[in-house]
Amino acid sequence: MSFLTTRGVPRKDLEELLDSADEFNRVLARPIPKVPALQGKLVANLFFEDSTRTRLSFERAARALSADVMNFSAAGSSAAKGESLKDTALTIRALGADLMVVRHKAAGAPRRIAAWTGRPVVNAGDGAHQHPTQGMLDALTLRQRFGGLDGLRVAIVGDIRHSRVARSNVFAFTALGAGVTLVAPRTLQPVSTGGWPVDATDDLDGVLGEVDVVYLLRIQAERGGLSVFPSLPEYVSRYGMTRDRFDRLPAEAVVLHPGPMNRGVEIDDAVAGHPRALVLDQVANGVAVRMAVLFRLLGGSG
Ligand code: CP
Repeated sequence: MSFLTTRGVPRKDLEELLDSADEFNRVLARPIPKVPALQGKLVANLFFEDSTRTRLSFERAARALSADVMNFSAAGSSAAKGESLKDTALTIRALGADLMVVRHKAAGAPRRIAAWTGRPVVNAGDGAHQHPTQGMLDALTLRQRFGGLDGLRVAIVGDIRHSRVARSNVFAFTALGAGVTLVAPRTLQPVSTGGWPVDATDDLDGVLGEVDVVYLLRIQAERGGLSVFPSLPEYVSRYGMTRDRFDRLPAEAVVLHPGPMNRGVEIDDAVAGHPRALVLDQVANGVAVRMAVLFRLLGGSG
């Protein structure tokens, strides 16, 4: 079994994963934040794209479960000499990996690796497709804050077209009972949202007073996001979360961002540092959620 997408995952399974993450957060709060659940298992982190949060939190999660960890970065590896994705994955399996965590710029790469190796794979972000553990850590952060996602009104704002986070969060949040509105200029909205249970608008100011959660996204320059609107100042003037816009949100509303943040573009300093900006809670929850996923996939019964 692999964890490749949040799309189509039943609510019950998402809630079980969140419950398990809650338990692992309690483990992480102990003086010795470690359990022997995955002793003897080897987790391989295969990162073909850059990462800070996801990579480090998967490593922390595996070690907190007492698994061994093997880290692979494309830069500096034989992939730079032309070794194929398949040969790289088979090599990592031959080195003893029990599970692979995969980030790749190509949508579908984690699924291919799962098929080639027969090992469980966790998708740590594939192109503009999915980043399911991000969706789950965001759902956990909202559940902690609001007690549940039922009836929550969430605006996902920014470069939705190129965002794997948006795709994971739409399906996780709506399965857990939230309503989602996509907010972006037309050129940054997905070509089609057929089958997505969402509304869409290009008017951020029009929805500010009606949302519980504003989920901000970075412009994905590496996937062409900067080329589809006239200028960055124009984007900021219509979609940047300034202090003025923040002050027009309902009093209990919160701001989330998956990171890395572009301060002064999609989020101002004054908002990023506000107690109702939950960015670092999201990061911290990433460890517990990834522990829950690794524990589930590596057969951590008992
Ligand atoms: N949110 C996220 O995926 O961050 P990293 O790219 O730093 O892993």
